[in-house]
Amino acid sequence: MSGFELPILSISVLVTATLCAFPVASASLPIRNSECPTAFWNFGDSLTDTGSILNAFPQCSQCDAERKPYGESFFGRPAMRFSNGRVVPDFFALAFQKPLLQSYMQAGAFDYRFGANFATAGAAASNETARSPIFLPLQISQFVRLKQRAAMTRALKPCGRYLPSLPLEDSYSKGLYTIGIGGVDVVVAFSKNNQTPDYFTTHVIPEAMANIAKGIETLYESGARQFLFFNLHCAGCSTKVVSLLSSVLSSDNLGSNIPKILMIQAFNSALKETVASARLRYPAAIISVFDYFAANMEILLNPAKYGFNPNLTQTTCCGVPGLPADIDLTCGISGSTTCSNPEEYVIWDGAHYTEAFYRVISKFVLNGQFTDTSINYTANCNLKFDQFGPEATFEGVYPETCEVIFT
Ligand SMILES: *[C@@H]1O[C@H](CO)[C@@H](O)[C@H](O)[C@H]1NC(C)=O
Ligand SMILES: *[C@@H]1O[C@H](CO)[C@@H](O)[C@H](O)[C@H]1NC(C)=O
Ligand SMILES: *[C@@H]1O[C@H](CO)[C@@H](O)[C@H](O)[C@H]1NC(C)=O
Repeated sequence: MSGFELPILSISVLVTATLCAFPVASASLPIRNSECPTAFWNFGDSLTDTGSILNAFPQCSQCDAERKPYGESFFGRPAMRFSNGRVVPDFFALAFQKPLLQSYMQAGAFDYRFGANFATAGAAASNETARSPIFLPLQISQFVRLKQRAAMTRALKPCGRYLPSLPLEDSYSKGLYTIGIGGVDVVVAFSKNNQTPDYFTTHVIPEAMANIAKGIETLYESGARQFLFFNLHCAGCSTKVVSLLSSVLSSDNLGSNIPKILMIQAFNSALKETVASARLRYPAAIISVFDYFAANMEILLNPAKYGFNPNLTQTTCCGVPGLPADIDLTCGISGSTTCSNPEEYVIWDGAHYTEAFYRVISKFVLNGQFTDTSINYTANCNLKFDQFGPEATFEGVYPETCEVIFT
């Protein structure tokens, strides 16, 4: 594993009045009725990984998602997710009443009828900041490969016993391609002393945007028509800073976090431009951007409205007491403790969010909130939310069956 560091997004970012955009109504684009997706293809990092990093690197020394208490909520066991329970692709699957989205690197039984998940912890968008080989371009290539292999399997073995688990015919053209990447680029660039915001803007962002534009092109040529981007969330925005956002902060209050905040903001602006050009280039495609940053801010500004304890928005639920919350990889190691009420927390470990947070984010997205196309899947697609609550269990939602394979 030398040369390979487990990724993980840092949460130690503060946010400032001048830099943080408040949630804004995104009325700039006309509302379009989209076709309801029949499948999901997800690309990203540890926020949406459902098994790729652990299946790709089974001996990694920091496989925290494989330890208790990861996955305790809903799954009742570690479930290869960097959270106490479900992550956004899981909530999408539940809303659309589909099997949970499985990793492209599903070691063992697989079920790709309704898509696959290429998101891999540590994945960056730019090759300048990639710390694992599995960065965005590789994930896109994996998608192309899966599609090719599935077609080949169908052609060679028209009655093979695995055919029922391969992607359904309409899953490519009627799938929703979700992409949330870039957090690792910020963390890696920030942690390298020589990578200033200037360097990030002049080197990392152009590479990242080129890779994203190329990714859209490749997916489009493979039949993709509906894209949904997640921009960079407001990692680690503290309530204290958030509450000061309406007043102008002096640079003393910002300290060493200025570069990171600038990087996040610069990345999100660049993504907006990249998507705008892609829209011109592919008018037949629907490309949405969910403003994760603004949604994140909304939750931190009004935690109680979304069921979170306002006193706990800056505290990790799981970690080693006494260690700062932004120290990664302490949840589940010897000496770590876990809160008894993860539903009240936004942050799960030093780098990732709780199931409760992802639940709220998923509802925002599905309702078209903070999304520049305002596509309301809830209204259009007869979604179900009855399994979203904390009382739902994996066995309850997906009772054992011999016909369908789940996670
Ligand atoms: C990133 O890719 C570009 C070509 O797209 C190449 O010119 C550049 O050297 C690569 N950078 C790294 C760090 O691999
Ligand atoms: C938050 O902390 C304050 C002060 O300790 C306390 O009065 C309040 O009940 C707490 N709120 C919640 C929701 O626990
Ligand atoms: C989306 O549709 C649902 C169900 O019709 C509705 O409750 C919700 O308010 C809509 N979202 C927005 C942002 O209008």
